[in-house]
Amino acid sequence: MSFLAAFIYTQFIYEPPVPTESYKGKTVIVTGSNVGLGKETCRWIVRLGASQVILACRNVEKGKLAAADIQATTSCSSDTLQVWHLDMSSYASVLAFSDKVKAELPRLDAVLGNAGLRTTVFRQTEENEETITTNVVSLSLLGFLLHPILHKTALKYDTQSHFTVTASELYELANFKERKGPTGQIFKTLADKNKSRMTDHYNVSKLLIIFVIKQMAAMSPISSSNVIINCVAPGFCHSELMREQDGPILHVVKKILCRPTEVGARTLVYGASAGPESHGQYVPDCKITPTRGLTVGKEGALLQNRVWGELRQKLEGIRPGVTSLS
Ligand SMILES: NC(=O)c1ccc[n+]([C@@H]2O[C@H](COP(=O)([O-])OP(=O)(O)OC[C@H]3O[C@@H](n4cnc5c(N)ncnc54)[C@H](OP(=O)(O)O)[C@@H]3O)[C@@H](O)[C@H]2O)c1
Repeated sequence: MSFLAAFIYTQFIYEPPVPTESYKGKTVIVTGSNVGLGKETCRWIVRLGASQVILACRNVEKGKLAAADIQATTSCSSDTLQVWHLDMSSYASVLAFSDKVKAELPRLDAVLGNAGLRTTVFRQTEENEETITTNVVSLSLLGFLLHPILHKTALKYDTQSHFTVTASELYELANFKERKGPTGQIFKTLADKNKSRMTDHYNVSKLLIIFVIKQMAAMSPISSSNVIINCVAPGFCHSELMREQDGPILHVVKKILCRPTEVGARTLVYGASAGPESHGQYVPDCKITPTRGLTVGKEGALLQNRVWGELRQKLEGIRPGVTSLS
């Protein structure tokens, strides 16, 4: 199916099923959960019986408003929901968050790496353009930091835990011209304001995170880790993602095309309870689907290796040893 045909099918024909898989007794972290898909994902997971849901947000006040709304609509007990600070544009914040998880959570069944940014304005955070820091480097760092805790929970409770990332169908449209640059310079080129094509950065970030998920899964087979690593894509949904591009035209386009946020969130809930067959896989619309475009064949494998080589260096520079997985 072409990208356009798949888009039409997703937006107008197919509706992801209402999630029914139980989250009873589970502890789940959802990043970027004060609004949009993250918030609706928390609402579903609470309804499905989770004991504890951590809303990991950069604005704690907004997170508390979201928690109050979820509590009001689900009648869950007040201690089911907690709001913790996490700013994905700062490595220090990601490290502090993971230290708090280690210190305070007796179990961790799923991490939904959902926080994401779409912008056409170049801003530097850490050593990268902000989209790349938020959607790729910090997200990978978080996954590697929390993987050992997911692994411990899986062993202790004889279960399988999940690291699930919100990717996007738009990875397929990434032009990613930075890949044509010299060896070892992909992230450096993406961080160069003068060479950046910001209209492509969001799509590139979603392509890179698919490479990371494939890589992490290959490094950590379920047979030894019991941690299922996958990524989902929710379709084009109502949310605040395009807040910087807001205007009357976008408003009309969204009205015609977008899925309700709650419907898109079902795909995240599915991913974080999907079976071992989803390990390392791209799961749009609750269906395992082979990735296409720049991820395919020998070229795709080579590109994944290059991206991983550069990213690994960055992650090891932030927290030495972090990329050694069980
Ligand atoms: N909506 C869609 O059509 C669509 C399609 C495919 C994939 N996605 C993906 O779905 C995920 C959720 O997006 P959404 O559509 O629900 O958009 P949204 O309503 O804008 O939500 C994005 C969330 O990410 C948070 N976030 C952004 N930068 C952050 C940072 N530096 N640190 C911590 N949190 C940060 C936002 O917090 P603030 O409110 O504080 O900014 C917000 O909670 C994203 O990864 C997005 O790429 C969305």
